[in-house]
Amino acid sequence: MNFDFTEEQLMIQESARDFAQNEIAPSTVERDIKAEFPADIVKKMGELGFMGMMVSPDFGGAGMDTISYVLAMIEISKVDASVGVIMSVNNSLVCWGLEKYGSDHIKQKYLIPLAKGEKLGSFALSEPEAGSDATQQHTMADKEGDFFVINGIKNWITNGTRADYHLVMTQTDKSKGHRGITTFLVEKGTPGFDHGKKEDKLGIRSSDTCSLTFENCKVPKENIVWEEGRGFNFAMNTLNGGRIGIASQAIGIAEASLEASLKYSQERKAFGKEIAKLQAIQFKIADMAVKLDAAKMLTLKAAALKDAGKNYFAEAAMAKLYSSKIAVECALEAIQVHGGYGYVREYLVERFLRDAKITEIYEGTSEIQKIVIARSLLDKK
Ligand code: CAA
Repeated sequence: MNFDFTEEQLMIQESARDFAQNEIAPSTVERDIKAEFPADIVKKMGELGFMGMMVSPDFGGAGMDTISYVLAMIEISKVDASVGVIMSVNNSLVCWGLEKYGSDHIKQKYLIPLAKGEKLGSFALSEPEAGSDATQQHTMADKEGDFFVINGIKNWITNGTRADYHLVMTQTDKSKGHRGITTFLVEKGTPGFDHGKKEDKLGIRSSDTCSLTFENCKVPKENIVWEEGRGFNFAMNTLNGGRIGIASQAIGIAEASLEASLKYSQERKAFGKEIAKLQAIQFKIADMAVKLDAAKMLTLKAAALKDAGKNYFAEAAMAKLYSSKIAVECALEAIQVHGGYGYVREYLVERFLRDAKITEIYEGTSEIQKIVIARSLLDKK
């Protein structure tokens, strides 16, 4: 087993780190307070190739592997997990699925600008009554000649008010259950399509989350992604990769928690010495470091399997389950290391906890990841 990264992977990691420190960090705190979308940052990330990292250069992407994507996601999320999720949705849930399953028309018209970061995408699966139980889609798409007419509501949509192109899962044949679900690409501005108000969230506040509404929204049949009736498979296959992205986001938050704890504990004095010299603090630091390394191993393993063209869905679920859990734990411990200072905005670590919590919920809750993992084992028997 080789634990070394290639020169190219290390270069991407370094360039993501530099970008995060120089271009993202200065505005992170203010954007979190104001819940302000990082439009200029996202634009620059597109120019640098971070919005379509794994897409082939033939379709406007950077042509990198999933390991590089994980390393970049960690660096960006370490500084700002809101920017991390915007990047993750566009890369894993939108661009990856379009490159793998989109028609040539879709790739030429939509994937190229998405991968270049000129346009932004969203992934609309969840509904008010279809969250974890995602097969229960109520959004309908009825055939009318060469068009489909969409009616329904989606919610919790990342990039919702900002995205130019939305991947929308709909029911085209209710009698077939989840095998009657179809994915459409819907352009912003299509008559009958609108978004709701931006949600006021606990964490990842500068990212954008909202509902989407469809009232007799007419979409051409060319905008079906993959095939009629394959929309649920599309969503599940795409989410497997998305879970690697969210695992990386969680690792970024955990790493930021550890680094803040290392710094603060070597500055803060109590009982006549730096608190880093106290075992109580050393135990916390050691626990955080072990958890972080284990989360990285799981996530890089899932990424390596994906890059090798092997099945990775259970490994992606394990990576997300564990990384999101330890992100919350590390953020909590970082607050404890900081004491009262950890509870106020000035010291950043309170944001890590607020940002970490969502990683246990979106792109499949921890409970859903356990179902996916358990079924993968039971299916082998
Ligand atoms: N990978 C590939 N295929 C999968 C899969 C996976 N991880 N999990 C399920 N499937 C497939 C099954 O193989 C089956 O396919 P076939 O019809 O071809 O046989 C199909 O999906 C249905 O699966 P089940 O019969 O097992 O259905 P179920 O209802 O018992 O379980 C579920 C399905 C796994 C619970 C699924 O509903 C699920 O993953 N729910 C969570 C949904 C989710 O992650 N939502 C996130 C929203 S997106 C988001 O958060 C984006 C954002 O903006 C940040």
